[in-house]
Amino acid sequence: MSQAPSRTVVVLAAGEGKRMKSATPKVLQPLLGRTLLGHVLAVSAAIKTDRTLVVVGHKADQVGAFLSEVAPDATPVLQAEQNGTGHAVRIALDAAPELTGTVVVLSGDVPLLRPETVEALLATHERAGAAATVLSAEVAEPGGLGRIVRDAGGNLERIVEAKDASAEQLAIREINSGIYAFDAALLREALGKLSTDNAQGEEYLTDVFAILAGQGQPVAIEIAEFAYETLGCNDRAELSRLRVLMRDRVNDGWMRAGVLLLDPATTWIDVTATLEPDAVVDQNCQISGTSSVATGAVIGPDSTLVDTSVAEGATVLRTHAIGAVIGPDATVGPFSYLRPGTTLARKAKVGGFVETKNAELGEGAKVPHLSYVGDAQIGAKANIGAGTIFANYDGVKKSRTVVGEAAFVGSDSVLIAPVEIGPGAYVAAGSAVVKDVPAGNLGVTRAQQRNVEGWVALKRPGTVSAEAADRARIITPEQD
Ligand code: UD1
Ligand code: CA
Repeated sequence: MSQAPSRTVVVLAAGEGKRMKSATPKVLQPLLGRTLLGHVLAVSAAIKTDRTLVVVGHKADQVGAFLSEVAPDATPVLQAEQNGTGHAVRIALDAAPELTGTVVVLSGDVPLLRPETVEALLATHERAGAAATVLSAEVAEPGGLGRIVRDAGGNLERIVEAKDASAEQLAIREINSGIYAFDAALLREALGKLSTDNAQGEEYLTDVFAILAGQGQPVAIEIAEFAYETLGCNDRAELSRLRVLMRDRVNDGWMRAGVLLLDPATTWIDVTATLEPDAVVDQNCQISGTSSVATGAVIGPDSTLVDTSVAEGATVLRTHAIGAVIGPDATVGPFSYLRPGTTLARKAKVGGFVETKNAELGEGAKVPHLSYVGDAQIGAKANIGAGTIFANYDGVKKSRTVVGEAAFVGSDSVLIAPVEIGPGAYVAAGSAVVKDVPAGNLGVTRAQQRNVEGWVALKRPGTVSAEAADRARIITPEQD
């Protein structure tokens, strides 16, 4: 049985990306759930490869740290000075002297590329028995990109950089995407022959094509089905265009999978998030990180979910949720802020202007209005009155509050942790609770109310209040 030839991916990620004008290296700029480089690494992971080498240079420590976190199998290779794409690949191959088979070169700043497109490139490369194959694209505005120069027979002759191109060559609209497949041995040999005799004084990887073609080696071209996939980005305006393209592609995918997006133009779903058929997303929503939305759930309008799961039938209206678990048929919002560790069981409710953190709400438990619920466990069917504050922080440490099943906490109470309200217990409105309230008891900490008769007439004569009180006395004369 013959073994399939080995495949190595080389990702070029050493450049600075000056035009981003950012302290963050270009390849680590975020784009809908992954960094630019993260997207490229996902492609590398999706096509079966034996190894992935990533050429790092600018802020190599930062890019290396990112790699060890998200792609520990990838091997960083340091290109201390960035002397061009040919130099970068040469350094990568020098770091892997035993490497044979096919080398796929990807660019760390081309995040829209799909694995299917790389597979098509590889299929063309293998079918042609090519020494080198380039992924090209037809574009309206080729700008500063390298041009594909074909001979009279339509075969690839060379790739010319815009800065080195003649006026005639600049008119070519077929561009080099910077994505290639090579035979490892022939690539290694050709890289040894690169010169820096060009407009940028760099070793151009693109020159490998003219070298191999000149040797009579077969070189091939795969034209990308969708040109936009090959778009790189050099500044933030271009990055924002890529973001829109990515958004539309992600949204189209979910809509085709049965998700109802009411306003896809204002719906931003990270590539790492998941939704089920018949989930509904209303306008102005961001669904980020590892978030998931189950069937029948309704998100938005105006909601942000970060690493938050929403179970079937739940509604999340005008809410900001991070690291929360929202149970089946639960209702959240409007204007709710769920922070990490929030867990809502079935039919639990978090209403308007409520903030929660490390808070577990049991089945059917309700915090309907204007509350802070920190470090708390609230039993099933318990009701937390408007304006209740769970005072979890004494200035030094945080403590927990437990509210039992079907307990009732009156409005405007402060539960000063650590404290426990027993099952079925009541807390009178306006109480500041420092002691446990046993099951079935009423906890009340208010002072007794006393009414001072005639106080307004005596102390505030002639005011509108005094007049109103006077009128009230005439209409409903006091009984004795
Ligand atoms: C390159 C191609 C050009 C193509 C374009 C597509 C060359 C000479 N030109 O041009 O034909 O149309 O990509 O985007 O290859 N990098 C390194 N080390 C270096 C230089 C670059 O790792 O020394 C990395 C960059 O970080 C980037 C990629 O290689 O990820 C491409 O480099 P870039 O400078 O953007 O190449 P272009 O000049 O745009
Ligand atoms: Ca580029």
